[in-house]
Amino acid sequence: MIKSFRMRASVCEMQSFKEFAEEFSVGKGDLIITERFLYEDYIKPLSLDCDYLFYGDYRVGEPDEDFFDTAIALCAEMPHITRVIGVGGGSIMDTAKLLSLKDIKSPLDVFGGKGPYARGKKCICVPTTCGTGSEMDGIIAGEMKVMGKVGKGIDEATPDQAVLISELIDKLPYRTFMFCSADALVHCMETSVSPNAHPFSTVYGYEGIRIIVDRYIRIRENGPEERYQYLADFLRASAYGGICLSYAPCGASHAMAHHFGSNYHVSHGESNAMFVAPTFQFYARQNPEGSIKDMAQIIAKAAGVKMDTIEAFQYLSELLNDIVPMKRLKEYGISEPAFPGFAERVLETQQRLLVQSYITPIRKEHLIGIYRDMY
Ligand SMILES: [Fe+2]
Repeated sequence: MIKSFRMRASVCEMQSFKEFAEEFSVGKGDLIITERFLYEDYIKPLSLDCDYLFYGDYRVGEPDEDFFDTAIALCAEMPHITRVIGVGGGSIMDTAKLLSLKDIKSPLDVFGGKGPYARGKKCICVPTTCGTGSEMDGIIAGEMKVMGKVGKGIDEATPDQAVLISELIDKLPYRTFMFCSADALVHCMETSVSPNAHPFSTVYGYEGIRIIVDRYIRIRENGPEERYQYLADFLRASAYGGICLSYAPCGASHAMAHHFGSNYHVSHGESNAMFVAPTFQFYARQNPEGSIKDMAQIIAKAAGVKMDTIEAFQYLSELLNDIVPMKRLKEYGISEPAFPGFAERVLETQQRLLVQSYITPIRKEHLIGIYRDMY
């Protein structure tokens, strides 16, 4: 029996933070978790009577155990807080979700699988990138001391409300914007060909792919400024990716990107933008007639060109490199003898994702072949 599909978060779209603050009567009883630069640009001018937690005062990068402990302790000193509002990227939204859970004394209560969980406060998530889609799911990720990097999906941690505000992504630098949106594209692509893909969530995945590929083609034609026409579309596509992630994790592209990104200090979005086309070209060569065929035709239709499955992913590879040129592996100082070691490490550490790939089982020689294509 296939599991039920439920779109858990409510979502609305707005033009400005001011509009959001007015519509949701943001003020006393609200704790806004954000970054100081976002506060200065969008929130301070509104003189809201809220409490604030500035993420960057405590942590740079993804949340770790010590940060979560600090945030829980700070929140415990504010018993008047009834609503937690995360305004930021995935790390900030994950913190908001964690703080909205009832009776959580430590992040280990979450990641240790204690349960049952209940909501203690309302939670609103407002993304300021167009990549994670974290505003749409109940997944909380963090770096624990003993467990390492962990992610846990909890229904009760799903935000009560996701708010997509175009204004909040208009200052993202071009490359950052493109890599965030590429991450969203990869979420839509990988979850839609996963063996656990939910047929209802693939509707969102396919539409996310259509939107992003279509807008990328327009950006290639008209230049980087073109993205300002489509801020709401990119936020929507990112949220679609988040819906998909609630039902199926990512696959081999994310698995390889995690390993590469952490070893060569390349961002999550850029790593995925590098790995997605070579991974899907490998998939297409292995099994061009499976669910990947529908996805290829979405890309071909957006391009307005007749293509077979293999050609469609070659087209995607060229499109990504045209709009945001990426280095090849050798330009990172990586040489071919390193590939078997990379592949072994990915197989050792990323099985959770690899088992969700379009082609399973993924073997060492498969991964080496993808690295060679990127050399
Ligand atoms: Fe991702």
